Amino acid sequence: MKNQTQLKILFIADIIGKPGLDIVTAFLPSLIRKHNINFCIANGENAANGKGITPREFFAYRQLGIDVVTSGNHVWDLAQGRKLLQDEVPLLRPLNYPQESPGRGSDIYEGNNGISVGVLNLQGRVFMYPIDCPFKAVKREVERMRTKTPVLIVDFHAEATAEKQALGWYLDGQVSAVIGTHTHVQTADERILPEGTAYITDAGMTGPFDSVIGLSRKIALKRFIQGIPHRYEIAKENIRLNGVVITIDAESGRSTAIERISQP
Ligand SMILES: [Fe+2]
Ligand SMILES: [Fe+2]
Repeated sequence: MKNQTQLKILFIADIIGKPGLDIVTAFLPSLIRKHNINFCIANGENAANGKGITPREFFAYRQLGIDVVTSGNHVWDLAQGRKLLQDEVPLLRPLNYPQESPGRGSDIYEGNNGISVGVLNLQGRVFMYPIDCPFKAVKREVERMRTKTPVLIVDFHAEATAEKQALGWYLDGQVSAVIGTHTHVQTADERILPEGTAYITDAGMTGPFDSVIGLSRKIALKRFIQGIPHRYEIAKENIRLNGVVITIDAESGRSTAIERISQP
């Protein structure tokens, strides 16, 4: 018999432009079936051709069964995305941007089995734009959200491994999962921390792998070799879907399993 308090969450790593959308379209239905997914989160900061998101990609993701779209530093790249953040839609931007910036960084949603799922989006400060402290911001918000549900999922959009690991330990036992994003390279360090928080340093990327973190190799090489900016163009070859599946005990909010996904 299926455990009624078990919740399975699929987190899809940064979806890159059209190639990313195509592979999500191809694989999401079978992933949801295979893993009995109750709730699906995807990072969409690179949805619109690698930079930002527009209503077009956002509603395409929603139609495919993605419940919430998280983001990161690129969410501000397009005016349409900044406007979308102000609407009442399940799109999050990192919580620790100044309060005056559009949108919100956390909210509570519902899985297909009626279980409440809190989602928080955070951004790191090491080798990134120096916004407010992610540790202080998340602590306050977790305390508030835990009065409503013990199932809390954090997308920590950050560059530095150490900052991500530190946040994982900081929140162990307070949230169900800390999932790293932003580097676009999936790490093999997924684990359940001692107090029941699922952790991975980076969930990876959903897009073209014959690239430099999604960018066309030719353009990335020009940038590095010449040391000057070149137009942004995403790659097209070797498209993969990355992410993680997390199994959570909904009563306690503790995770019991985390599995890396990399398809095909
Ligand atoms: Fe990204
Ligand atoms: Fe990013």
